Amino acid sequence: MPSEEPGASAPLQRITEQTQLFQDEAAQVEDREGWQRLRVRWLGRKQGIVRSLLGQLKDIPAADKRDFGQAVNQLKVLVEERLGGLDAELTEGERQHAQRSAAVDVTLPGRQPVLGSVHPVNLVTQKIVEIFSGLGYSVAEGPEVEDDYHNFEALNFPPDHPARDTQDTFFLEDGRLLRTHTSPVQIRTMLARKPPIRILCPGRVYRHDNDLRHSPMFHQVEGLAVAEGITMGHLKGTLEAFIQQLFTADTGVRLRPSYFPFTEPSAEVDITCPFCSGEGCQVCSKTGWMEILGAGMVDPRVLSGCGIDPKIYSGFAFGLGIDRVAMIRYGIPNIRLLFDNDERLLRQVKI
Ligand code: PHE
Repeated sequence: MPSEEPGASAPLQRITEQTQLFQDEAAQVEDREGWQRLRVRWLGRKQGIVRSLLGQLKDIPAADKRDFGQAVNQLKVLVEERLGGLDAELTEGERQHAQRSAAVDVTLPGRQPVLGSVHPVNLVTQKIVEIFSGLGYSVAEGPEVEDDYHNFEALNFPPDHPARDTQDTFFLEDGRLLRTHTSPVQIRTMLARKPPIRILCPGRVYRHDNDLRHSPMFHQVEGLAVAEGITMGHLKGTLEAFIQQLFTADTGVRLRPSYFPFTEPSAEVDITCPFCSGEGCQVCSKTGWMEILGAGMVDPRVLSGCGIDPKIYSGFAFGLGIDRVAMIRYGIPNIRLLFDNDERLLRQVKI
């Protein structure tokens, strides 16, 4: 009765245990790697468990060899089938995953492209250029690094004249300077061209000045008209037409006597405060007026210095701070906001 001997049933018992062990391990397979490990562990050619069980066959007593051999074969078939089943399951899982991740969700909202916008200073510059184009002016430009001659001397600032102090100049080491206003473009144009001249010169200018309303770099636009018979009346009419297009048709304009070395007579130009329409408010310090321009009749000395005969020709010029107009138009309280590159400002300012 071999089956009653403990030694005889032990090998079969071992197979039963191994079968259970395999089932437990197979139940824990979660992915391709686990499947691979299981396959090598049980069916590996060199150290696979099934292979080593078969290797034990030679040590099994002859009477038990048949049963043992059959049991090992059954285990082998079971392992192969279970691995095959797991393989199919994993393949299906992988297929579904690939399908899900490749799928396009057509119900998702589209991506909004971020639209840029034009900087307030450029908006105002464009507007001013547009208005003066309508009056027959063309745009002229000049260098930001200037020399004393174009920035001061030709504009009738005598050497060591205190008027130069009002310009808070940045000097370069080579004696040149950052232009303190756009007026040197007048000089360059008059030296290069003969009247009639009608130009508008927008650009960056630099002064040693820094507070809520002043930045060391800011923008001006210069206007110059030179022809026979130009008068202060033309200047005033032109400025009124300009300002009423830039702001509103009922904006008041007033000229106050002033001084610039390169114009005579000179005027500072005020407009009725756009915030209170001249009633008087905090922005205009209760005066109802706001200064926005410098202007005047081109000094005869400036004309003759540029080779234009002041007995035949006369002209007017004006200069305006673009940043200040942008601040007024868009209610921007601090000039720094214009140059900080904060995108929120650009998003808020829309035409
Ligand atoms: N250039 C002057 C300034 O910067 C402005 C101005 C221009 C005044 C033209 C009169 C005529 O202050």
